[in-house]
Amino acid sequence: MDRIFSGIQPSGNLHLGNYLGAMKNWVDLQHDYECIFCMVDMHAITVWQDPAELRATTRELAAGMIAAGIDPKKNILFNQSQVSAHAELAWVFNCVARMGWLNRMTQFKEKAGKNRENVSVGLFAYPCLMAADILIYKATHVPVGEDQKQHLELTRDVAQKFNNDFGKEVFPLPEPLIFGAGTRVMSLRDGEKKMSKSDPSDYARINMTDDADAIALKIRKAKTDPNPLPDAVAGLEGRPEASNLLGIYGALTGKSLEAAVAECAGMAFSDFKGRLADAAVAKLAPINAEMARLRQDPAYIDGILKDGAQKAAALAKPVLDEVYEAVGFLRP
Ligand code: AMP
Ligand code: TRP
Repeated sequence: MDRIFSGIQPSGNLHLGNYLGAMKNWVDLQHDYECIFCMVDMHAITVWQDPAELRATTRELAAGMIAAGIDPKKNILFNQSQVSAHAELAWVFNCVARMGWLNRMTQFKEKAGKNRENVSVGLFAYPCLMAADILIYKATHVPVGEDQKQHLELTRDVAQKFNNDFGKEVFPLPEPLIFGAGTRVMSLRDGEKKMSKSDPSDYARINMTDDADAIALKIRKAKTDPNPLPDAVAGLEGRPEASNLLGIYGALTGKSLEAAVAECAGMAFSDFKGRLADAAVAKLAPINAEMARLRQDPAYIDGILKDGAQKAAALAKPVLDEVYEAVGFLRP
């Protein structure tokens, strides 16, 4: 049985990049797989988080996922810290993984920068926790962005070394599910920069909380070039803003880039932007409204996360038992 695990860090300011790059893919996957979706609050605290804000963004992310269409009855949706088996398995993996493996992680090098002596130990060990997230459920497939591929390879290395060291095939080697190219959403102000929650200009991104007017205004103000839209994908070469806006249009309307280009061939940006704004509002307005409704009902969200955590813990328990048995922990 194929089982998906994916994690996302709770952080504020969900935007169109998060939606098209992560959440929407998850929504699509739930039809074909047994899915476990986890808000990884324990990963979040590898860098400083304001406690009240962490709680709020965890709820906000859960609301966003439910509003985007993740069915909490069909899937398991919870926050990581509620299931202690993640931390317990991560400790065992800290003792399986080698310093040299973690030293090679590019995300750690980027995040630590010149500050290596002063970042948390958790930031360094982060990939072991991620491996534990996945393997505690013996997940077979992990949807991740390009930037997480290296961590998934480490997860496979940890699984393999564990199986070898203890002479038992406890863990499967999980496969990445990398989503297609159209999922990298770029800034509305600069087609060569990723749309990001940390961009100082709010006009660079469409937030999941933006209303129809704000969405239309941001698209109207989006950077373009002076030429009409091309009639073939090849004509997007060297036109990052046109590529980005057409990519967004395709992703929002469920069309391939080829189909989006064909549909909008020769259009002036001013006309195309109207069409794009309509598509964005049609997709995001219902999500936005549902998020607003859920925000009024934190007890409902908390109930879903608690229920999800109970189901997750029940799946994790026998795997942790198997691991502790293999390792030789005495459990009278
Ligand atoms: P972040 O908030 O940057 O940690 O990202 C959370 C999730 O959204 C990750 O799975 C990212 O890959 C995805 N994501 C964030 N920004 C973008 C973007 N501009 N385009 C596509 N996916 C994105
Ligand atoms: N490290 C991932 C990120 O920053 C989040 C994450 C944590 C994750 N555990 C995971 C993703 C397990 C996939 C599977 O985006």
